Amino acid sequence: MTRKILVTSALPYANGPIHIGHMVEYIQTDIWVRLQKMRGNECYYVCADDAHGTPIMLRARQEGITPKELISRVATEHQADFADFNVGFDNYYSTHSEENHYFATLIYQRLLDAGHIHSKTITQAYDPKEQMFLPDRFIRGECPKCGAADQYGDNCEKCGATYAPTDLKNAVSAVSGVTPVEKDSEHLFFKLGDFEEMLQQWIHAGHLDPTVANKLDEWFDAGLQDWDISRDAPYFGFEIPGHPGKYFYVWLDAPIGYMASFENLCDRTPTLDFDDYWNRESSAELYHFIGKDIMNFHGLFWPATLAGAGFRMPTALFIHGFLTVDGHKMSKSRGTFIKARTYLQHLNPEYLRYYFAAKLGSGVDDIDLNLEDFAQRVNSDLVGKFVNIASRCAGFINKRFEGKLADKLHDETLFQEFVAAGDAIADHFEAREYSRAVREIMALADKANQYVDEMQPWVVAKQEGKDDELQQICSMGINLFRLLAIYLKPVLPTTIEAAESFLQIRPLSWDDHKAPLLEHEISKYKPLMTRVDSKQVEAMVEDSKQDLSSIEKAPAAAGPLANDPVSDLISFDEFAKIDLRIAKIVEAAHVEGADKLLQLTLDIGGETRNVFAGIKSAYAPEDLQGKLTVMVANLAPRKMRFGISEGMVLAAGPGGEDLFILTPDEGAQPGMRVK
Ligand code: 2FM
Ligand code: ZN
Repeated sequence: MTRKILVTSALPYANGPIHIGHMVEYIQTDIWVRLQKMRGNECYYVCADDAHGTPIMLRARQEGITPKELISRVATEHQADFADFNVGFDNYYSTHSEENHYFATLIYQRLLDAGHIHSKTITQAYDPKEQMFLPDRFIRGECPKCGAADQYGDNCEKCGATYAPTDLKNAVSAVSGVTPVEKDSEHLFFKLGDFEEMLQQWIHAGHLDPTVANKLDEWFDAGLQDWDISRDAPYFGFEIPGHPGKYFYVWLDAPIGYMASFENLCDRTPTLDFDDYWNRESSAELYHFIGKDIMNFHGLFWPATLAGAGFRMPTALFIHGFLTVDGHKMSKSRGTFIKARTYLQHLNPEYLRYYFAAKLGSGVDDIDLNLEDFAQRVNSDLVGKFVNIASRCAGFINKRFEGKLADKLHDETLFQEFVAAGDAIADHFEAREYSRAVREIMALADKANQYVDEMQPWVVAKQEGKDDELQQICSMGINLFRLLAIYLKPVLPTTIEAAESFLQIRPLSWDDHKAPLLEHEISKYKPLMTRVDSKQVEAMVEDSKQDLSSIEKAPAAAGPLANDPVSDLISFDEFAKIDLRIAKIVEAAHVEGADKLLQLTLDIGGETRNVFAGIKSAYAPEDLQGKLTVMVANLAPRKMRFGISEGMVLAAGPGGEDLFILTPDEGAQPGMRVK
């Protein structure tokens, strides 16, 4: 029976570029959707840009354009990136659309009518200069726990503490740099608690992986809290009916964007009916692919919103982990924060699709892109094994048999073994165990190559009267290649399209694996894939470092806070008061009991200073010994838990491993004044 399936990936924010971390999800989803389509199911894959919210409003302001101009430019960029990675959406839309406005309003009205909305006055941080309420992420200050400077309003990146923005010390607005004040405002809340029982039951009813269900269980411990669904102007979003100056919170209308995108597809597809997929009794399947960071929105708020408004709930949430590169969080300074576009400028998208597939399972574990392993794996599996089968056999068929395949298989048993593997491979894809599917496919590729090795067509070719055998052996090889092509098609759509044209066949569907291709003319073989050259990988990493410098120089950086606000100006005289000196690190040591600090002994030209520097996350003491750096020499001594700190070394960067002390050029001497 054909299944009716609607699939979504998370909607990317419309304020920044797609990077390879995002691509894990879109590739994972696309492979799944392609499998469904190949198996004859009626499957639709919709997505959209997530266009609302404060960061998008501010980003547009920073660039001196309107939010609409920003989201329209980003929509074009996102869609080009996805298309070039062969992500085959049936529709790509925007949450800033008429359809989304309609559904957001409808859903809100239904929730309101059913008594699931109430209002309450709350106190929030307010930027008196910009006249706007500040989301937690737009307040910065010192961590109330460890004192680390320049931390977000909700959690400390240094010590991991979580707190309320009002707890931050010396807080400033990241928008204007002024000190926020507290201000009251009336907000609308969705009573999530009304759905407590339903959700608790739903979470454990097979829609979620058990580890995800257990994680979500934690939300019930303290009782489900009301969810604040309104934001005050200025805000880029949909105004709430009956509440001028109040807008739906971006996370209310974002998932509704799944419906809006599908509705938009229905509008131009006469055979497709929205209600078939979304009404409460729908028998269609609905799957959301998402990252583990947004599981609460999709596992709690979203199903409750749907249920409360009389729509169907998701069949399942498919949740994946994050991407690391070479074992670390993607890092701009290492050049591993790789934008989709930068990747595409250097490498074939099918390489990454294959590598991710080879790594992905159905769980929430993070996956690692190891760049060396990436090149090696693609070269050995795809070029060395898969494509090689065709290139080893095609020449003889073309030269000696006018491109014609034999009329019978040379080894029926082996062919049947390849056919039989198809069901298990499909099941692995279906269960999102792509790494298992890939492993089985590559085991078959090994067998196919072994077959060719043993049959030695190049020897048979030289023997008299062995033409039939030669044709059969090579046709057998081509047939094994064709089955592997079917199995790899969800992963490598473009390469397999080229293989289809080499074989001169119609687009392969999954069931085509059951019968061989005989007495059929194929075309001349052209290489289907070239090897990854490690130089290309290096160039991509280098370019990603350059991307960073261009981001830093550009007026508007990626992410809401990548450009820290310029704080109040200081006069030249004030600057001149700062005594910056070249310092030689004569000794660097760990500080017992301190997990962020290193103790530095600095020589500033005959005088030594003891300084505790919070740079342990980025440097080992032995890296520093003997190095020159820059210090503030006239900072008032500070008494710390571990002793007195007599100055400060200068470092730049977002923190963690990405922290860089300043080092002067050669020739600088300890004690020289920096001017
Ligand atoms: O976390 C994010 O990037 C969100 N833009 C995802 C939204 S998914 C859905 F709810 F719209
Ligand atoms: Zn802290």
